Amino acid sequence: MMQAPEDLLHRLRRYRQEHILIGWDRLQPRERDHLVQQLAGIDFAELEQLFARRNEPHTLLPTREQITPLPVEAASQISAETVARGDAALRAGEVAVLLVAGGQGSRLGFDRPKGVFPVGPISTASLFRVHAEKVRALSLRYGRAIPFLVMTSAATHADTEAYFADHHFFGLAPGQVTFFQQGTMPALDRETGRVLLEKPGSVFVSPNGHGGTLTALADCGLLTELKSRGVRHIFYLQVDNPLVQIAEPAYIGRHIETYAEVSSKVVFKECPDEKVGVLAMIAGRCGIIEYSDMPPEMAAERDGTGTLVFRAGNPAIHLFTVEFLERITAGADRLAYHVARKKVPYFDPATDQTVLPTLENALKFELFVFDALPLADRTLAISVDREEEFAPVKNAVGVDSPETCRQLQINRAARWLQAAGADVPMTTEGHSVYPLEISPLFAYDVAELRAKLPPGFRVTGPTLLE
Ligand code: UD1
Repeated sequence: MMQAPEDLLHRLRRYRQEHILIGWDRLQPRERDHLVQQLAGIDFAELEQLFARRNEPHTLLPTREQITPLPVEAASQISAETVARGDAALRAGEVAVLLVAGGQGSRLGFDRPKGVFPVGPISTASLFRVHAEKVRALSLRYGRAIPFLVMTSAATHADTEAYFADHHFFGLAPGQVTFFQQGTMPALDRETGRVLLEKPGSVFVSPNGHGGTLTALADCGLLTELKSRGVRHIFYLQVDNPLVQIAEPAYIGRHIETYAEVSSKVVFKECPDEKVGVLAMIAGRCGIIEYSDMPPEMAAERDGTGTLVFRAGNPAIHLFTVEFLERITAGADRLAYHVARKKVPYFDPATDQTVLPTLENALKFELFVFDALPLADRTLAISVDREEEFAPVKNAVGVDSPETCRQLQINRAARWLQAAGADVPMTTEGHSVYPLEISPLFAYDVAELRAKLPPGFRVTGPTLLE
């Protein structure tokens, strides 16, 4: 019988994980190589610590008195001078765009990378195409190939790269798009702390959360490379929201002039139980209370005018300075894992069987990007109109579904067209009678639309401007 290498066995015994090697003698040589490689990438000491601290809260829960509403500036108040500052930064190549697309569309019931999901109300353009065309529109406007970084995960990487290549990178310049993968984390048995196996000779792993974006960006050398190319600010967005105004100069300009290390967009919550995180001041620092952690009575608090006290909703749009990201990915400030209890089917080497659990049997670990906020010494929060910038696709039906996303996109196109002087027939409910779509390449904002639209433009049927 073929024994597992002694040093490997020794290392695993030290962490009481030697069950991983049961059945080693039955593995094919390439399966052994795969396992050895997988194990080399796992930090067992870290897993041991995470297991020991599994019942501790992620952060010391502050008292209610320590949590206060966050001062928020309105995007509409930004001056022309500030916008010019943003324009200059974009023209000078100081801004890169980072799209986070490591998740799969599982809640959507879609078995490909979420970015491939069609959202264009008429064109059926995918989320990837919508975002890529915005980067292209900005690049054309500023005469600069704005770097477009696409973070994938093991589950979405190959498909995403192939999808972009098949579509000629949506017209972006060669070399402008960089794909990089976020890290993975094993899952542990909730009772014993043992690493779960996916099948004989293979550890079960899943993406390490969107906070993994920041560590991956640094670890693969991209951060250093961007810096050497003169990039100073990184605009972060999640793939699921086609309405994000990417890297608009007003936001960039305000971020620069306030010397913020992180600037976050805010959309005001409309009702207490909305599933968005809330930005707040927590013990003197800007942070986000995730919707699942927010006590319902706090979410429902209202001030004398009836406005929600904690209403600064998180659309997950941030702008980071490169220097700040360097600092928090280099040292002791690194983000800490959140623990989630999940049902994970696994292979049990002791019984040689796959187990389909009925209860939550596993601990999964994820980093959250917004845990970076309290690490910043200077932050800025800017409120944007949610109707203009927030239409995420998360669920197959109901709230945040393809249907609501489509309607929100049509509504925005109708508003833009009206603001640009067009005649748009509307229903009594205030929706456009016809589906409407404006490609970012036709107009990136109302001003551009106004400049391009022929005078007296009338909508008389489904209208796609591209
Ligand atoms: C998230 C935010 C919430 C915010 C809301 C806005 C968290 C924990 N919460 O909620 O505060 O108000 O978005 O829409 O994020 N992703 C990866 N890799 C991973 C995990 C996720 O790339 O390992 C990406 C997904 O592709 C997706 C995004 O991160 O684009 C958001 O993840 P999701 O699980 O949909 O977060 P929400 O619960 O919707």
